[in-house]
Amino acid sequence: MRCLIFFLACLCPAAEYQIQRAASTIKIDARLDEPAWAAAPPTSDFIFNWFTAGEKETTEAKLLWDDDNLYVSWRCQDRHISAYVTERHGPVSKDDCVEVFISPDPRKVTNYYTWEINPIGAMLNRCRTDWWKGPPTWEPEQLSYRTTFHGLAKKDEDTNDREWIVELAIPFKNFMRDAVNTPPRPGDEWRLNLMRTGGKTNAQQSTWSPIAGEKRSFHTPENFGKVVFVAQQRGAGGRGARSRPALNPQQVEKGHTQYNRSCTVCHGVDGAAGDRAPALAAQRRYLRTSGADLFDSIKNGIKGTLMPATPMADEDVWNIVAYIQSLRATAADITVPGDLGNGRAVFTGKGGCTQCHMIRGRGGLVGPDLSDIGAQRKLEDIRAALMVPKPVPPRGYQPVSARTKAGAQIRGIVKNENNFSLQVLGLDDKLHLLTRDQLASITYEPLSLMPTNFDKMLTANEMQDLLAFLSKQARQRESK
Ligand code: HEC
Ligand code: HEC
Repeated sequence: MRCLIFFLACLCPAAEYQIQRAASTIKIDARLDEPAWAAAPPTSDFIFNWFTAGEKETTEAKLLWDDDNLYVSWRCQDRHISAYVTERHGPVSKDDCVEVFISPDPRKVTNYYTWEINPIGAMLNRCRTDWWKGPPTWEPEQLSYRTTFHGLAKKDEDTNDREWIVELAIPFKNFMRDAVNTPPRPGDEWRLNLMRTGGKTNAQQSTWSPIAGEKRSFHTPENFGKVVFVAQQRGAGGRGARSRPALNPQQVEKGHTQYNRSCTVCHGVDGAAGDRAPALAAQRRYLRTSGADLFDSIKNGIKGTLMPATPMADEDVWNIVAYIQSLRATAADITVPGDLGNGRAVFTGKGGCTQCHMIRGRGGLVGPDLSDIGAQRKLEDIRAALMVPKPVPPRGYQPVSARTKAGAQIRGIVKNENNFSLQVLGLDDKLHLLTRDQLASITYEPLSLMPTNFDKMLTANEMQDLLAFLSKQARQRESK
C-alpha cells in the first residue's frame, strides 16, 4: 500500500494553463483592476509539496500576454507579511517572496529564467541556460513590476496583514535566444512554474505545478507546468482552470448603472427576464459564460436575434460584463478573504458543523452535504444560512422529537412518513423506523435544526474564516 501511494505521488501530472491575450491595456501598479485581469482565469490552486504543519495560505496567480509582454500576477493571502532585503539580487526568498521560473522552449526545459520578488519590491534574477556565460545573476531588459509595499525600506508583520500583490510585465525580447517565436504565436507552448516561499511566521513553500520526488527544490524544470498562448480572452478555457471572475465592486457598480440605462428595454431590471429577452441571471444554464463571450455578444450583438450591437466604449462593455458576472457569481467565483485553515478548524471544532454536515465523506448526516456549497450558493445565502432563522424548516428537513411507549427518546428529521409509520434520521446519524402504534408522543418542531446564532457564537474573524472556507467548497467541474 505504501508503495502504491509513493508511486502515485510521483505521477502527479504537471499543471496546465492557457495564457489569454489581454483584451485591455494593463497598467503595472499592483492593483489588478483592469478588465483584462478580471476576465483572466486564475491558475489551479497552489500545492504544498512538502507540507508538515501550519496554515496553507492561498495564492491566486494569473497570466496574460500581448505583442510586447508576458504579464504575471500573484495575489497572496498572508496574515504575516514581512520583508527586509532591499538590495538588487539580494536573498529575497528569505522574506515573503513570489517566484516565476520560465522555460520558453519546451524541447529544452533546462534553459530557464527566474524572477524572485519580495513584498517591498527587491528582486533577484538568474538566467539558467546552457549559453549564458555571465555572472550568476542576470539583468532582464525593460522589465516593469510593482508590489503592494513597493519601495518601503522594510515591512514588518502587522495584525492587519491580509494580502499582498505582485504585478510583473516581462518583455518577450528577453527570451529571444530560446523562444521559438518572439512574440509567441497562438498555440505556442512554454513551460513554467509559479511559486511562493519564505517569511518569518508560517514560512510555507507552495507551487502551482506540483514538484514530484524527494528533492526539496524549485529548480526542477522537469516539473514545470505547461502553458499555451491563446489568441483571445476566452473565459473558461484552460484545463484545470475554472473561469472565476475576480470582481471589482466599483466596476460592477458602474456596469449596473449602464445596464439599467441601456438594456432593461428588453432584459428585465436587475438581470431578470424582460418582455423581449431572456434573463441574464437566473438559475439556468447560460449559453454564454466566459467574459469574452459576454463581451462579444454585447459589443457585436447576436446575429439573427433582437439582441443589438452597441456603440459603447470597450471599457463600458467590460463594466456590464462584470455586472452580469456578479449577478451570476456563486461564493466559489469570488475571492472571499479569510484564513482557510482557521475556517476549517471552526467548521470541525468550535462551530460544531461536522456534527450535522459532511464535507467529502466526513461528518454527520442530518444536514445537507456541504462539499459543493461554494458552487451552489451565493456568499450572501451562505451567510444568511448561518445567522437568519428560516420561518419554516425547508422541505426534507422537518425536525421531530418522538418518545416511544418503551421509553426511548428520538430526535432528528423526518425522512419519510405515512399514516402508519415514519422514518426518522436521528441526531445519532441512525435511521429509526417507527410505527405510529409504538409512539407515546410525537412533536413536529417549528424551527429547523440548523442553528442560526453563529454571528453571536463566533468572533467576527472566525465567521469570516468560516465563510472563506465554505466558499472554497466546490467540486472540480469539467470546463464548459
Ligand atoms: C432590442 C432588445 C434587446 C436589447 C436592447 C438588449 N438585448 Fe441582450 N438579448 C436580446 C435577445 C432577444 C437575446 C437572446 C438572443 C438569443 O436568442 O441568443 C439577448 C441576449 C443577450 C445576452 C446573451 C445571454 C446568454 O445567456 O446567452 C447577453 C449577455 C445580453 N443579451 C446582454 C445585453 C446587454 C448588456 C444589453 C444592454 C447593453 C442588451 N443585452 C440589450 C435582446 C436585447
Ligand atoms: C444540529 C445540526 C446542525 C448543525 C450543528 C449545523 N447545521 Fe447547518 N444545517 C442543518 C440542517 C438540518 C440544515 C438544512 C435545513 C436548513 O437549511 O435549515 C442545515 C443547513 C445549512 C446550510 C444551508 C445549505 C444550503 O444548501 O443552502 C448551510 C450553509 C449550513 N447549514 C452550514 C452550517 C455550518 C457552517 C455549521 C457550523 C458553523 C452548521 N451548518 C451547523 C443542521 C445543522
